[in-house]
Amino acid sequence: MSDSMILVNTLEELWQALSLLERPLGLVPTMGYLHEGHLSLVRRARQECVSVAVSIFVNPTQFGPNEDLSRYPRDLERDLHLLEAAGADLVWIPSNEVMYPPGFQTWVTVETLTLPLEGAMRPGHFRGVTTVVSKLFNAVRPEKAYFGQKDAQQAAVIRQMTRDLSYPIEIVVCPTVREADGLAMSSRNTYLSPEERQAATVLFRALSAAETAYRAGERNAETLRHIMRTTIESEPLARLQYVSCADYDTLQELETVSGKALLSMAVFIGATRLIDNCVLG
Ligand code: PAF
Repeated sequence: MSDSMILVNTLEELWQALSLLERPLGLVPTMGYLHEGHLSLVRRARQECVSVAVSIFVNPTQFGPNEDLSRYPRDLERDLHLLEAAGADLVWIPSNEVMYPPGFQTWVTVETLTLPLEGAMRPGHFRGVTTVVSKLFNAVRPEKAYFGQKDAQQAAVIRQMTRDLSYPIEIVVCPTVREADGLAMSSRNTYLSPEERQAATVLFRALSAAETAYRAGERNAETLRHIMRTTIESEPLARLQYVSCADYDTLQELETVSGKALLSMAVFIGATRLIDNCVLG
């Protein structure tokens, strides 16, 4: 809608800028270092909404003590160019103090859905995600918010939070964007050495092998998990953290795939932890 993109930092600047934007407004929450996956969310929001807001905030509370917060990649100037080209109207770049003022002590927790998978491997991660996304929703009050299917559990948890807290916001989950060789786009791919980058295609190969077996009629969930596990184990640079074949809605592990299911995994390639997933049925 507007010709030039508005940049804001404080809540007061944000509210002032929001009053100038026409509705419906779509929000794309990000942690920056944007790639085609993020830009596909911005473009989808551009198609579906009159105005598009993007937040860039590397949220410290969703990183564990031994995770990559301090070295998480950042390039604000490049991000802003990409967002302008993709048609964002407003970019909100809050500081840590804006998001977590001194004395901060209020958290949003989704209980059951955060227990398995990423929640089991990254204690506290989803508490950080749901708290920050809830704050973004409260501040921006969008009609629609856009997330990637690449973080499948995050999307499910945010959908649950949105229902439970009665946010009048439609959650739109967009397909995973992949490199030509199948690697799911992620800001963390930048950590990979050329050799590791090659090895990282094993996640997509493992998912594809299990999906092919499913399409050929395999419905035993342990067999599908076994196919993914052995494919990952065939790659010397890969160290499997988990593979899962779970019910799409509850994320509980299945014995037999009868309805919609989520195949997912977390794998270390060298020191870099990557996740990927695909939906069956
Ligand atoms: O998916 C992400 O980039 C982050 O988890 C999100 C949703 C922006 C919250 O910090």
